[in-house]
Amino acid sequence: MSSIGIFDSGYGGLTIFDKIQKALPRYDYTYLGDNARAPYGTRSFDVVCRFTRQAVMRLFREDCRLVILACNTASAKALRNIQQKDLPRLDPDLRVLGVIRPTVEAIDSISRTKHVGVLGTTGTIVSRSYDIEIKHLFPHITVTGEACPMWVPLVENNEYNSPGADYFIKKHLEHILTLDGAIDTLVLGCTHYPLLLDKIRSFLPPGVTPFPQGGRVAESLADYLSRHQEIDGRLTKQGRRRFLTTESVGKFSETASIFLHQSIEVEQITLTESLQ
Ligand code: DGL
Repeated sequence: MSSIGIFDSGYGGLTIFDKIQKALPRYDYTYLGDNARAPYGTRSFDVVCRFTRQAVMRLFREDCRLVILACNTASAKALRNIQQKDLPRLDPDLRVLGVIRPTVEAIDSISRTKHVGVLGTTGTIVSRSYDIEIKHLFPHITVTGEACPMWVPLVENNEYNSPGADYFIKKHLEHILTLDGAIDTLVLGCTHYPLLLDKIRSFLPPGVTPFPQGGRVAESLADYLSRHQEIDGRLTKQGRRRFLTTESVGKFSETASIFLHQSIEVEQITLTESLQ
């Protein structure tokens, strides 16, 4: 079986997985959440690279020949290293894709004012990956980033609907719109943030629209597979789903069912250093 591997530090990647499985239901998927070590957002470059590599190598050993980093922090910090250093050495037929590029590709057609805000983890914002990619593809767009370090812990701890969440959500939305009042599109540059979408919408002034990336990433993957038959042909399509977590099985299945609106079976794994 060669399934599509989907990786995130925790539960956030399930927002991407959900859109992908709806767009491409026949494929087999293996989801891996490194919940025991989440959040990644405030961790150093080296640590995010190391943890992400361990997860990707594990998914390769689970026979995933295509892995999606459904995590902006990992895409910002580890994707390039893995693509350039690991894949040519391991097997040039293996593929690892991130979520930042497909999100950025959609931005020009969405923003009217050409002033875009990016909300993300500290790691993603400090890496300036969105600024760099947007400037590269659309130099006429002005980009402002805002790190929201409390938002992932609110989701991971199931506190995202609490009144405490309101304070942190409002604080960062107000701040980014103070930095650039012409922003009309706010990219949710973290896969956990779609869970906060209703609250985010309720605090935004008219004319400012949040842009969650799941639908766009799914669309881009479908397009990629249709253009790369040699990769698509190796992927099995029996509608199977596996869920792996580094945390306890009970905790993961309980929270994941909130994300996916269905109950799931989960396996616990340990991630260690391995050169495959
Ligand atoms: N969901 C991840 C992202 O898209 C990161 C969450 C974390 O901080 O671990 O950036």
